[in-house]
Amino acid sequence: MEKKMNIPLVKVYMDDEIKKAVLEVLDSGWYILHEKVREFERKFAEFCGVKNAVCVSSGTAAIFLSLLALDIKQGDEVIIPSFSFISTATSIIEVGAKPVFVDVEPKTYTVDPEEIREAVTKRTKAIMPVHLYGHPANMDEILEIAEENDIYVIEDACQAHGAEYKGRRIGGIGHVACFSFYPSKNMTVCGDGGAVVTNDEEIADIVRKLRDHGRRDKYVFELKGYNLRFNEIQAAIGIKQLEKLPGWNEARRNIARMYNQALEDLVITPVEEPWAKHVYHLYVIRTEKRDELREYLSRQGVSTLVHYPVPIHKQLAITNIFGAQPALKNTEKLAGEVLSIPMYPALTKHEVKYVSDKITEFSKSSK
Ligand SMILES: Cc1ncc(COP(=O)(O)O)c(C=O)c1O
Repeated sequence: MEKKMNIPLVKVYMDDEIKKAVLEVLDSGWYILHEKVREFERKFAEFCGVKNAVCVSSGTAAIFLSLLALDIKQGDEVIIPSFSFISTATSIIEVGAKPVFVDVEPKTYTVDPEEIREAVTKRTKAIMPVHLYGHPANMDEILEIAEENDIYVIEDACQAHGAEYKGRRIGGIGHVACFSFYPSKNMTVCGDGGAVVTNDEEIADIVRKLRDHGRRDKYVFELKGYNLRFNEIQAAIGIKQLEKLPGWNEARRNIARMYNQALEDLVITPVEEPWAKHVYHLYVIRTEKRDELREYLSRQGVSTLVHYPVPIHKQLAITNIFGAQPALKNTEKLAGEVLSIPMYPALTKHEVKYVSDKITEFSKSSK
């Protein structure tokens, strides 16, 4: 009988070089917003193909500060897909504005531009597409709607480091893009961390001030700011991880190809649009028997997770403030069917085969 394996959903990469870089920072005596942060910001901006990257304390902080920098406030509306992580919405509420939830496309699970078009009102100040699971949203149509209505596009790129839209790296397509370096992401700073990237010098400058108490000079404060800074240890780790990111993304794409081949007749496998380069932050399958499959895989030592079981527009955190929200057909169906299976660059062929075999076994036995 085949030996039972234990396969996690994600695995964070660590090596001696990263540990050495951290120790060097500890010995340097410089800990916050110093040379390493500047180096990482420069390298991350270059990687994204944009002029500026401003590192902050999390992806949520990146979204929050972007909204503030664009002067989005009480009375304003921001259109977002409900099929995302909660902070896509709560950051909007934090600046006093209202998140307006729209549905996603059934193929890519990213925001449906037609839905955005219908949701635009006089109060709409921004659209926030989410490049969900590592697949870019349909940006040309979104940019067109934004231009027609003179509104901003803030990309929630928290799951899309290195993804491409029509051959361009995610980051510089909208007015601002927000990244997260949380441990499960395609690259991490081994803790919380995030970045606002933009070609707009003015926005970058405001975010730079806002993250650091509104500071212009040591004790000169120009804006009512926050302490949402990035530190030197995070930056030192980020620099090392960024060097490996392109290779890791290719490894993720190879694993996705193996999964696709093994699973496409059994479940709905992820789609990569011809104009997209998917970086498989998550490899998400779909089946009506999701909960039973999850249970079965758990018994076989395969970790899985559901991203996301309750769409944002149905979360109490939202309905307690804004009341019940209109139904979103695709989003609600997806929430009952999606399942994220193990995906990380170090996943071996043998492990991919094991996971695929277990899904095959389940599918045959549950016919
Ligand atoms: C789509 C999306 N938006 C926002 C965030 C928030 O990022 P963070 O956890 O770094 O605050 C995340 C990550 O968890 C995310 O996946």
